[in-house]
Amino acid sequence: MKNIVIICMFLTFLSCKQETKTTELFIIPKPVMVDFTGNEFKINQHTSIVYCKSNIGFDKVANYLKEEIKKNLNLDLEIIHSENNSKKNAIILIKDSIQNNHPEGYLMNVTKRNVQLFSSTANGSFYGVQTLLQLLKIDDLNDQITFGNTIPGVKINDYPRFKWRGMHLDVCRHFFYKEFVKKYIDALAMHKMNTFHWHLTDDQGWRIEIKKYPKLTEIGSVRKETMVGKSWNEFDGKPHAGFFTQEDIKEIVQYASDRFITIVPEIEMPGHALAALASYPELGCTEGPYEVAKTWGVFDDVFCVGNDKTVEFLQDILTEVIALFPGKYIHIGGDECPKAAWEKCPKCQKRIKEEGLKDEFELQSYFIRQIEKFLIANNKKLIGWDEILEGGLAPSATVMSWRGTEGGIHAAKLGHDVVMTPNPICYFDHYQGDSKSEPLAIGGFTDLAKVYNYEPVPSELNEQESTYVLGAQANIWTEYITTPNHLEYMALPRMCALAEIVWTPSKQKDFEDFKTRLKKHVLRLKAQKYNYRSLDY
Ligand code: ACM
Ligand code: ZN
Repeated sequence: MKNIVIICMFLTFLSCKQETKTTELFIIPKPVMVDFTGNEFKINQHTSIVYCKSNIGFDKVANYLKEEIKKNLNLDLEIIHSENNSKKNAIILIKDSIQNNHPEGYLMNVTKRNVQLFSSTANGSFYGVQTLLQLLKIDDLNDQITFGNTIPGVKINDYPRFKWRGMHLDVCRHFFYKEFVKKYIDALAMHKMNTFHWHLTDDQGWRIEIKKYPKLTEIGSVRKETMVGKSWNEFDGKPHAGFFTQEDIKEIVQYASDRFITIVPEIEMPGHALAALASYPELGCTEGPYEVAKTWGVFDDVFCVGNDKTVEFLQDILTEVIALFPGKYIHIGGDECPKAAWEKCPKCQKRIKEEGLKDEFELQSYFIRQIEKFLIANNKKLIGWDEILEGGLAPSATVMSWRGTEGGIHAAKLGHDVVMTPNPICYFDHYQGDSKSEPLAIGGFTDLAKVYNYEPVPSELNEQESTYVLGAQANIWTEYITTPNHLEYMALPRMCALAEIVWTPSKQKDFEDFKTRLKKHVLRLKAQKYNYRSLDY
């Protein structure tokens, strides 16, 4: 008995020791498995980055690592193409599916001799590099961030819990420039997120160049003025404009791809269409005139889906969008589409009758199915907000559950893929502290704890249904967010919490431990000049 007590005490001691040390690593999101070997590796000017040239995508990982080491340690490491996986004084990116064969996983082994980073894909290698960068000691000396060059002796085996680890950005309500979009993508990469949902069109602005329909940006990207604060009848008198050219988009897509992030572009239909209708009024039920919206909210003027020209127009737009974005998903919005205009429109009513549809909800569903057929014919998958369930879901649509979790539960039970992004938890436009001391926000209350404690798989789903939950995402709508600084403040550190939810096994989640790591992690944000919200939650 006495022996058992001693063994138990020893094991408790060991597990405490392990816990403290994991915290000491300050990695976010927390890796699945960490062992301590005691053999630390020192990076110096003679350290090389090694990978085998025939391994696709590993060049991007090596270049990224080189740039980050240059930035943080001021060392210009040489990249060497070699199959020598045991080279001395090297960080070796090894393609290998035995050590870790998860499509986004990696195994890192740090010894005095070298750092070996095993992964079956370049994606996994990239996440290993993110971990490696977070292993560098970081300190804040009189507001000057410094990095150490020692990598602690660890063996880390790591892989994500979910395959959709997303962040959304609305560039319609307020426009954000290309350089900022890249900085936003950098923040995603740093947190091992892999999906950037880019909300490109809405009532208040059309933000993507479409060559066939130039008026979309000539007219649709400019609103005359903007409502002030929450006053619906006071305006600032200043035009707000901006859009991304197709060249900008190609550049951003490449930038994201170099960081293993897929962009999901969103082209809103059939609602949230005022900017498009202001440009091409013949595509609305009343044929206009329309104006790019100057206030927020939901508008009754939407695309006339009884008009074949509308479908043709949207398919032409999607053709250009498809050519720009290599990812498999196209987001078609589908949310908040009032039916008032369709109820009064002869074209929409004729379509309902001809197709034997029950009502305007079935008309919406009919329209979305047409769009889905088009996307499938072009090798893409349709994703939409949960309103696409109304009137019947298109056959292979993926549902983004935003009005709480019900839409996601319903869709998963029907055997459809879902992405969980429930309001209010995943709405980072909400207040994250006392509204009296926070910048004006749309409302709500979503603090760090609320985000961290979120479980993306609803308890209503059984094991088989749960497999349809691809992951989770947070949305940043920008009605009340006008500057990059403010946007970063809303995104960070809540994004850090979300990253852990979608990466780390749920049984390893621990808010106190997370907050301890976060205190150090924010120095990394500071080093990259992000304006994160302070941690006095
Ligand atoms: C949404 O927030 N309207 C998807
Ligand atoms: Zn109509």
